[in-house]
Amino acid sequence: MSTAAPLQITGSNPLVEGLERLPVHPTALVIFGASGDLAHRKLLPALYNLAHEGQLPERFEMIGVGRRDQEHEDFRDAVIDSIQRYSRRRPDPNVLGGLLCDCRYVQGNFDDDAVYADLHRTLQEFDEQAGRQLDRVFYLSTAPEYFPVIASKLGAAGLDRAADARTRIVIEKPFGYDLASARLLNAKLLAVFQESQIFRIDHYLGKETVQNLMALRFANVLFEPVWNRNYVDHVQITAAEDIGIGSRAGYYERSGALRDLVQNHMLQLLALLTMEPPTAFTADRLRDEKLKVLEAIVPCAPEEVPEMSVRAQYGPGVVGGEPVPGYREEPGVSPDSRTETYAALRLHVSNWRWAGVPFYLRTGKRLARKLTEIAVILKPVPHLALQSSGSVGIQANQIVFTLQPDEGVSVSIAAKIPGSRMRIVPVNMEFRYGTSFLSESPEAYERLILDAMRGDATLFTRNDEIEALWGIIDPILEAWALDTTSSIPAYPAGSAGPEAARELTGDSRMWRRL
Ligand code: BG6
Repeated sequence: MSTAAPLQITGSNPLVEGLERLPVHPTALVIFGASGDLAHRKLLPALYNLAHEGQLPERFEMIGVGRRDQEHEDFRDAVIDSIQRYSRRRPDPNVLGGLLCDCRYVQGNFDDDAVYADLHRTLQEFDEQAGRQLDRVFYLSTAPEYFPVIASKLGAAGLDRAADARTRIVIEKPFGYDLASARLLNAKLLAVFQESQIFRIDHYLGKETVQNLMALRFANVLFEPVWNRNYVDHVQITAAEDIGIGSRAGYYERSGALRDLVQNHMLQLLALLTMEPPTAFTADRLRDEKLKVLEAIVPCAPEEVPEMSVRAQYGPGVVGGEPVPGYREEPGVSPDSRTETYAALRLHVSNWRWAGVPFYLRTGKRLARKLTEIAVILKPVPHLALQSSGSVGIQANQIVFTLQPDEGVSVSIAAKIPGSRMRIVPVNMEFRYGTSFLSESPEAYERLILDAMRGDATLFTRNDEIEALWGIIDPILEAWALDTTSSIPAYPAGSAGPEAARELTGDSRMWRRL
């Protein structure tokens, strides 16, 4: 595959003009945990869609590694099955055939040297067929306890680098269990790989809507002047889900909402929303800015935790018209579990731009609906001479990024109701992806797998950043773990969350409706 200038795709739809395919070197992708849930639901369908769009390199080979005892053909059939089930577009048999014609499966335990010897042979075979060394991407989609094991075995087998090609390692979440374990994991990975080879996934960064946050802030002159404590009253970040924990009790019981969504996805959103403009959209410039702002979030002192945070658990309720069990009744969950399925926080970014502005974060399972949004609530106008009776209400301007499900950005403004009196009503100016681009956004994993193959770490988390993220969360986790007696509030499944969350915002501010 040549590294010529990006190929412009032009078609009959003028709105997709300018989309481009970026050059990717010939690559062998090795997926550890290839029979796992994430691979089946996300990674393999994402690969198919990349293949469908012609985004994979001209020579692309795939190897699955797993403990399940199966032949190459069985693995291929399982891959086809997951693509058929979960791909965002109906698979084309020719594309599937091309993608999977020589895919391989390596069976064994992740700590078994024989696995790495087998992998070595298979990679060499692919190199010989290609007449050159292929770049190698090792994607670790396994339980987290295997991350250091696999990294060190790869190193011991000499697979951490190649003479004439690049080697990269992609690490899924969760990256650590707390600050200390994240540091340890960083140290173990960095003992084998260089930081530039390590790609820590946070799939939220691959979402189009999340990247659009940066476009909106830094490619428009309109918003940045008000993006500070002088104009912003407060910010609300919501990641609500209507689903429960499904079959993930084993993972979730140890994790809880704070580790599962706040430590990574939600704090990343906060960082992108509040960071200073990077001088360039490159991996280190962007991550330097995120790190600075994350370091400006002062971790709570233990005595502040109760007034800065709320945890809760869903009880039985009704979701989508169906009765659902409470968390403690879910299969695999301890009947006296204290794991939170809801977390809300009030954070402050202690720097010149954001001093005094509260940032409210909330996330939960089994809430009223799936909604991920960031709402920037501006201050009210200082004096209002206009309003006459019959106004529907003045509300401060709100800039709302809806990340999912109805992707877009809306700005609420005050407008005059037509007629002879000056009656004011809030109305929305809207941008919706569906209407502006007439095409479906790619899945986050499509973008991230491609970036990892291209070696672009801009949308991945750096080692110092991951430690800063844990540094914010650790005191809350510690305080919650120490408090083993106070009861954990329950909220009915299908509701907007616990009453206690109201106290976080105080009387003058209210959570947006779910
Ligand atoms: C994952 C969490 O990281 O993100 C899940 O482990 C959660 O519990 C998921 O459901 C949410 O992702 P998305 O893209 O559906 O918002």
